[in-house]
Amino acid sequence: MSLRWRIFLIYVIILCVSLSAMDIYLYHSITSDYMTSERISNLTQANIIANIMAGYIGRNSYMLKPTIETFSKQVNSRVLFLNRDGIVAIDSSSVKSLEGQRLWIKEVSNALKGISQANIYYLKGIGHVMYTAVPVVVSGKSVGAILLSTSIEDVIAMAANIKYKLIYLFTATGIFITLIGLMMANFITRPLKELTKAANQMSAGNLGYVVNIKRKDEVGHLARAFNDMSVKLKIIDEARKKFVSDASHELKTPIAAIKAMVEPLIYGDADKETYREFLCDINDELDRMARLVNQLLDLTRLEKAIKVEKREADLNKIISNVISDIKPLADAKGISLRGDDRPVIVRVNEDLIYRMVYNLIENSIKYSPEKSEVYAAAGYVGGMPAVIVEDHGEGIEPEILPHIFERFTRGDKARSRKSGGFGLGLAIVKEIADLHDASISVQSDVGKGTRFTVTF
Ligand SMILES: Nc1ncnc2c1ncn2[C@@H]1O[C@H](COP(=O)(O)OP(=O)(O)O)[C@@H](O)[C@H]1O
Ligand SMILES: [Mg+2]
Repeated sequence: MSLRWRIFLIYVIILCVSLSAMDIYLYHSITSDYMTSERISNLTQANIIANIMAGYIGRNSYMLKPTIETFSKQVNSRVLFLNRDGIVAIDSSSVKSLEGQRLWIKEVSNALKGISQANIYYLKGIGHVMYTAVPVVVSGKSVGAILLSTSIEDVIAMAANIKYKLIYLFTATGIFITLIGLMMANFITRPLKELTKAANQMSAGNLGYVVNIKRKDEVGHLARAFNDMSVKLKIIDEARKKFVSDASHELKTPIAAIKAMVEPLIYGDADKETYREFLCDINDELDRMARLVNQLLDLTRLEKAIKVEKREADLNKIISNVISDIKPLADAKGISLRGDDRPVIVRVNEDLIYRMVYNLIENSIKYSPEKSEVYAAAGYVGGMPAVIVEDHGEGIEPEILPHIFERFTRGDKARSRKSGGFGLGLAIVKEIADLHDASISVQSDVGKGTRFTVTF
């Protein structure tokens, strides 16, 4: 059963049970109130008659019969006067069928003992009647009883009327509330349906599919989280596709170059010197391909790593190792490298930090003019340990600056250079910084220079 119907069913069951309980309670309390007031009024009337009777007995006995007949008409009941033996002395009905008979019913015997009572009976062919019996007391002694036999069919009919009215009222209320319940169940489950549809769309490959749910409740939070996830997955998916396409493209170029050099060697009749020259070029291209593949593998490995082994190390020591290793490259351009030797101790993975600093200094050398200066040192920025690599080189174009840490992003000069990089160096730097929970920022002015700051 769907959630919607389950919610609805529970709602309807609760509704039916509570409405029925209310219905039954109301019906019973109303009818019992009616019956009680009927009983009280009959007892009062019977007592009035009994008191008048008591006044007449002995002195004005001839008044008894007409009084009872008059009262019978007034109170719309059959009135019987019984002597102390329970024998009917006066019967108000025109047939007088009970006069002289002993009427030993419960109400009469109790009345003769001094107890007033009113009870309801159902008589076949007559309907509901109320027997009300009270004692007739003269000088403190019970000398007989008054019995009222009253039809209460009108009260019963009224009770039935109330019952039907209650049933109609509660059915109408029930239907109304049921409709509201249906709407409520829809309200609760509709967004879930939409989310299911969206999830299906996404598993069918439609990444970035969003649901239009603007609610502020838990379902709204879920929808927003879902939309964020969908958009992020799309971005990740696109980045991945771009990465694969860029990588393939990068590999295609050297393959085409190698093929272009190999074919004339196979079909032509070049001399040994030309062979050597071509093979050297081919070797260069293969080196370039190997560099690319290695960088791609590094990136994948770094991306997969969640945690790396770390030890306390002096950042300036790592930097000076890089400086001495990269010196030949700097010397080739007459660039001087300046460092620092204040100890700056941080828990890091030394190999990865070495790679990071190497990439940054290598860029600075690569994109700086001859005989300039590159500064690379660790220190404290705002109280936090940080690595700074600064140069007075060509700077980074503002258009690519925001994308500088994305894979295969590189400046025009880097692209056109045959020996230029692939635009993966800074992506690797970023991955390493992320693995150290470090933040990396770059400031650059075209023609003036660039400064990278990695803050731990
Ligand atoms: N110190 C720098 N000075 C000027 N431009 C830089 C510097 N560092 C990086 N860049 C620019 O950023 C691009 C991306 O750098 P990187 O990811 O290391 O790739 P690559 O060095 O292989 O080109 C470079 O192509 C270059 O245009
Ligand atoms: Mg580089």
